[in-house]
Amino acid sequence: MSDVPKPTLRPEWTALQDHRADVMLHPDLRELFAADPGRAERYTVRVGDLHIDYSKHLINDETLALLQELATATDVFGLRDAMFRGERINVTENRAVLHTALRAPRDAVIEVDGENVVPRVHAVLDKMSAFADRVRSGEWTGHTGRRIRNVVNIGIGGSDLGPAMAYEALRPFTARDLTFRFVSNVDGADLHEAVRDLDPAETLFIVASKTFTTIETITNATSARSWLLAGLGGEEKAVARHFVALSTNAEKVTGFGIDPDNMFEFWDWVGGRYSFDSAIGLSLMVAIGPDRFRELLDGFRTVDKHFLNAPAESNAPLLLGLLGIWYDNFFDAQSHAVLPYSHYLSRFTAYLQQLDMESNGKSVDRDGHPVEWQTGPVVWGTPGTNGQHAYYQLLHQGTKLIPADLIGFARPVEELGDELAAQHDLLMANLFAQGQALAFGKTAEEVRAEGVPEEQVAHRTFRGNRPTTTVLAKGLTPSVLGQLIALYEHKVFVQGAVWNIDSFDQWGVELGKVLAKRVEPALTEGAAIPGLDASTASLVATYRSLRND
Ligand code: F6P
Repeated sequence: MSDVPKPTLRPEWTALQDHRADVMLHPDLRELFAADPGRAERYTVRVGDLHIDYSKHLINDETLALLQELATATDVFGLRDAMFRGERINVTENRAVLHTALRAPRDAVIEVDGENVVPRVHAVLDKMSAFADRVRSGEWTGHTGRRIRNVVNIGIGGSDLGPAMAYEALRPFTARDLTFRFVSNVDGADLHEAVRDLDPAETLFIVASKTFTTIETITNATSARSWLLAGLGGEEKAVARHFVALSTNAEKVTGFGIDPDNMFEFWDWVGGRYSFDSAIGLSLMVAIGPDRFRELLDGFRTVDKHFLNAPAESNAPLLLGLLGIWYDNFFDAQSHAVLPYSHYLSRFTAYLQQLDMESNGKSVDRDGHPVEWQTGPVVWGTPGTNGQHAYYQLLHQGTKLIPADLIGFARPVEELGDELAAQHDLLMANLFAQGQALAFGKTAEEVRAEGVPEEQVAHRTFRGNRPTTTVLAKGLTPSVLGQLIALYEHKVFVQGAVWNIDSFDQWGVELGKVLAKRVEPALTEGAAIPGLDASTASLVATYRSLRND
């Protein structure tokens, strides 16, 4: 580990501070657009099927040039190349970071410790494909010989959010004769609701856990096994037909009683939140079929190639990462909204929360020194137009600056039928209107000109200058979904590189896990916990007395 200069001490950082304090003290998008007729065209980048307009940002050419200089100074592309080469850039876990190898073509060569990992990736993909085909065709039967009609993915975090999000996103491409459920929460209600109307004889559980030690997943999988055995007469050998595992930990999988032949492997160089295109995608592959899954991987690869090869000025993940840094570090923005105008992307922002906040929610740098600069933002959002009738008020007129991504598609999915498809223009009109209103607002003069009484003018004025990126694509296909995810993966990477943090560890989730284990006996048995703080002790006592009432 070598000490890298703090980003804030770099002249490129100071130059951005000066630029903000001087040229961009009160940036005005109306003026910026008026002064530059080519702005919309120039500040648009195309990657694969994605059309990305970043013209409604509080930037000019100088801002972009200064941000690029910061990226150069912090060697973002150097770290990018190291990641793609398989170097151990996850320094605190001493691991390579190679989710990009999961979508590499069969003939690629990517080495970890001198071994080309690509053949192993494709061997697992082939095994997944064969299995998915058998389930989809009905050839894979349950213990009683009935075909599988229900697939329940049990996993949490990166072993849940990706497949659950993508299943929703790609519903029109899924086998509609199969039922898919996703169980993550250790709250027994989650499993209960997932299986209460299912027939165990027709149900396949996919237990997804990189470590196979995650307490929520193991607890739910154990309960699911009991449910299954209770429904199938208690015959242990039924488990082999109804449980498969996705994991890096063969020993624990076998210990749980799952046949190693029914385990789909991945590797420690795949981070949990970057694992959805590994074996962790099996439930999705069963849902959409192997060919569509490979289209998804192609989509990821399109953006990987772009991130590797596109020049800095038109490199979309780099640009989006740098724009985030502009607001985070130079405007004190605390959060970032992701607002998909697609019902099918209802879980997309939840997925991005883990991707972004678990990656960049760090307060020490790669050398372990406390950071003196803001790192990852709070990521949040729900699909439009619902959010418009809930929290957009704050986006438009609140005191906080919240940069937002608006994501929409030119075409609704085919199966909607004419009448529902006709609603699509209205949906997208809302997306465009929001971007417009956020950027350009409505001046007091414009409000007055409408005859609004003077005492209401201030209330009905919109200051505008709320930055957005608009991402458009023709339709939400597997490939487009892969492109979108890779875009955000690499954006998060860029930000972590500039901030000099390890975006690939997650030590911040450990303490709560340890404390939960310690507190549990106090709840179940009333055990005394030495050193328990007074507040928690009193809460535990109250809980027990309410429970035993
Ligand atoms: O607790 C956080 C975390 O480790 C995530 O990073 C991960 O995606 C999730 O838990 C699930 O872990 P596993 O796949 O090992 O069960």
